[in-house]
Amino acid sequence: MIQSIQAAAITSCANSFPEEIRPNSYFYEQLGLETNDEWIRSRTGVQERRAVRAEQGETCGTISAEAARRCIELRGIDPEEIDAVILATISGDLGFPATACLVQDIIGAKNAFAFDISGACTGYLYTLATAAAMVECGRFRKVLAIGAEAMSAILDYNERTTSILFGDGAGATLIEAVPDSHPGRILDIQMGTDGSGAKHLYRTGGGSLHLPGADHPDFPKTAKVYQNGRVVYRLAVQRMSQVIEQMLERNRLTLDDIGLIVPHQANIRIIDAVCERLSVSKEKVAIYVDRFANTTAATLPTSMRLAVDEGRVAEGDLVLLATFGAGLTWGAGLLRWAGAPK
Ligand code: UT7
Repeated sequence: MIQSIQAAAITSCANSFPEEIRPNSYFYEQLGLETNDEWIRSRTGVQERRAVRAEQGETCGTISAEAARRCIELRGIDPEEIDAVILATISGDLGFPATACLVQDIIGAKNAFAFDISGACTGYLYTLATAAAMVECGRFRKVLAIGAEAMSAILDYNERTTSILFGDGAGATLIEAVPDSHPGRILDIQMGTDGSGAKHLYRTGGGSLHLPGADHPDFPKTAKVYQNGRVVYRLAVQRMSQVIEQMLERNRLTLDDIGLIVPHQANIRIIDAVCERLSVSKEKVAIYVDRFANTTAATLPTSMRLAVDEGRVAEGDLVLLATFGAGLTWGAGLLRWAGAPK
């Protein structure tokens, strides 16, 4: 663990999920895809997911701003006290500017600078690490770290293998400088990347490789999310188990010391397999993939808030975050829970 000059903690967290619920039946009854409830539930654990109402102006930016607004309000501070807004997303509102800039404007964080982080399912952890480092170096005191997605805006709904997996949602956390006497602390974060695995999970289109209208094999499906599900599945189990073990070992902890494990919510079978490998009881694991599916960068912060709402984490508990996603990227975070306001 690296010694910092200023301790940082998550002092507030809040969610915003779109109201529109899409049950599994949406895909075969409304879209006419060749799929069924039994396949989706048994292969992924998903029962329903949320979707933004684009026609009503609901976007990744608006749900992020709503989560951020609630997060600030719960903490009882003025938006002008925020030093920075960092948003992890792969489904932002525009090619540029960063969606974090739009959020900064909506919430009235006039004194904050804002930027996005593209880390796919690991994005929130990268954002948390960045925010924590900014606070720990002593230069900034209040940073919003948000994970949010409008995956429904970037999926190909003719494609049953990927469209059923994802959902929309936003989770905002406030990372603050805290005194030594404070009960909460961001204790450790470990992250990894293997760019040679980028080919296993990516989105064509939207970048300089796949230009709209260009003559390449993927055109016209330029905005397709591609995933080699079996490879990603195997690596997700392997990397998440490994990074949890490494995090425990380097902090001289065992799973018995951990109050709550918050894993990335890609697939209940991945969570089950990690639990089996580590011999951990699912009672101490936050699981919301059934209700919200894979919300990519939003799974970790939204799951933390949902766990707080269910009274599953108390002040002083050790919370372990673990994730894996496109990049390929992965990581774990260790927190001493500060007891987020309700
Ligand atoms: O969050 C980022 C990280 N992502 C992940 O962690 C996801 C990792 N991967 C997975 O979770 C799983 O691989 C999936 C859920 C994506 C797929 O589950 P699977 O058990 O690996 O299924 P599969 O891809 O091996 O497909 C099995 C069969 C195939 O048919 P054949 O070739 O055996 O005849 C698919 O065409 O299931 C078929 N299939 C479907 N059938 C009904 C694929 N999607 C569907 C569907 N409905 N929606």
